[in-house]
Amino acid sequence: MKVVVAVVRPNKLDSIKKSLEEEGVRGITISEARGHGRQKGQIRMAQEQEGSIDLLPKTRIGMAVPDDQVEKVIQAILDSARTGEVGDGKIFILPMQTAYRIRTGETGTDAL
Ligand SMILES: Nc1ncnc2c1ncn2[C@@H]1O[C@H](COP(=O)(O)OP(=O)(O)OP(=O)(O)O)[C@@H](O)[C@H]1O
Ligand SMILES: [Mg+2]
Repeated sequence: MKVVVAVVRPNKLDSIKKSLEEEGVRGITISEARGHGRQKGQIRMAQEQEGSIDLLPKTRIGMAVPDDQVEKVIQAILDSARTGEVGDGKIFILPMQTAYRIRTGETGTDAL
């Protein structure tokens, strides 16, 4: 199991969500976030070296995914989140120890 965390453009959420549903992802958690990447919150690359740092609104998508689904989930996000402009976001993959489904007591991938 892995935790897939994607920080993306808020206006891409619907198309990302749709593509993840098509991959059979069982659950996702969405949070509103603010952040900056290499351009320090500036919208254009030319401003990269200037001093101020702004935090831009982003959407954070978190998912626990079985190992055999991880590559497809990554590809689905890459395809549906990309505009080609700066600020398209990042995908982070984290190792995951286990999960518990509280209602049933199932653990591991059964809990997802
Ligand atoms: N190293 C990082 N650690 C944590 N969050 C990050 C990191 N890099 C980017 N983010 C998050 O992702 C959002 C989008 O980052 P962004 O796509 O601008 O990255 P970038 O490296 O500047 O790439 P690009 O040059 O394509 O803009 C940021 O606003 C921030 O919330
Ligand atoms: Mg950036």
